[in-house]
Amino acid sequence: MYVLGIETSCDETAVAVIERGDNNAVLAEAIKSQDELHAPFGGIVPEIAARSHYEVIDRLCRQALRQARVDIDEIELLAVTLGPGLVGSLLVGLAFAKGLAMAHELPLVAVDHIAAHVEAPFISHKHIAYPLLALVVSGGHTSLFYQEEKFGGRVIAKTRDDAAGEVMDKVAKHFGLGYPGGPLLDALYEKGDAGRFQFTRPRMSDGGDDFSFSGYKSALLRQAQELGVQPGSKDFHDLLSSFLAALVDYLLAKTLEAAARLPVRSLLVSGGVSRNSLLRRRFADACAAAGLPLHLPEPRYCTDNAAMIAWLGYEKYLAFPNMNYYDLFLNSYSRASFRASQRHR
Ligand code: KG4
Ligand code: ZN
Repeated sequence: MYVLGIETSCDETAVAVIERGDNNAVLAEAIKSQDELHAPFGGIVPEIAARSHYEVIDRLCRQALRQARVDIDEIELLAVTLGPGLVGSLLVGLAFAKGLAMAHELPLVAVDHIAAHVEAPFISHKHIAYPLLALVVSGGHTSLFYQEEKFGGRVIAKTRDDAAGEVMDKVAKHFGLGYPGGPLLDALYEKGDAGRFQFTRPRMSDGGDDFSFSGYKSALLRQAQELGVQPGSKDFHDLLSSFLAALVDYLLAKTLEAAARLPVRSLLVSGGVSRNSLLRRRFADACAAAGLPLHLPEPRYCTDNAAMIAWLGYEKYLAFPNMNYYDLFLNSYSRASFRASQRHR
């Protein structure tokens, strides 16, 4: 079966064509990043994001179909991101998907963006054992999920303030490095001495397991001010490398703590920050030492993409055959909620 996936939750417009069934593969993905549109602002401007999705989505759809050598009449299922994300952006993808569904009388599966990030490692790893622990770490989210099965589970921890990618983006903006900050810090990492500066790991005052990242950013900015750090200097490189190493250590320590408490058979790390070279290395080493199978998405499926939306859409279609997939009253939601991610509608 050919499935067409659509993703417009944030600042990437993406359309993918996948094949599922006897053959399981991503046939094509057309993706347009808006990084250069938002770079002058050091962060995403929602109205610019929505307008840009609107301008390019039909072209990307044609391009994905052409690259996949699949005709729109051969598509049997549509999948679209319903939320969470920027509502204006989400509505562009949803309205486009509804249009396709009506015109071609196709079933339309609504997919939760965070659940799709959890699904991303399954694109390349066929056999991932449950129960699993999944760390989704991106610009909008940093959460740990425990799942006994694909459409069941619970949240173990979530961030109480910024997401890990968001603090990297804010730090890069502060130093005038550009947007998004994560890949820039990744590229700079080897230039600095990551052992030079220490950062205190946050503890929740109520003893909870949640993450917090804003303290890391404040500590870094305080240190930079005290030292009078100038971009490009040795202090600057040492400080940024130490900061990245501290964030990765924190993510790893929290994840391993949770893995030790739960009967997990696999660990998944996904979302934009899972593209980070240091993170991938540190998690791979720690999981090898602990004998815990680790599954990371291919780098192109770490950041936002439509292949993961189509992939999970197909799984949902199979798992819940009695749902009404012709429901054109679907509506987007902006905020993450575990209930929404489990809502099989
Ligand atoms: O998953 P994603 O594309 O969008 C959200 O759902 O948020 O993640 C984007 C985030 C940004 O904060 C970006 O700085 C970060 O992922 N990111 C990285 C890397 N590539 C993207 N962070 C660290 N290292 C990278 N190589
Ligand atoms: Zn995402």
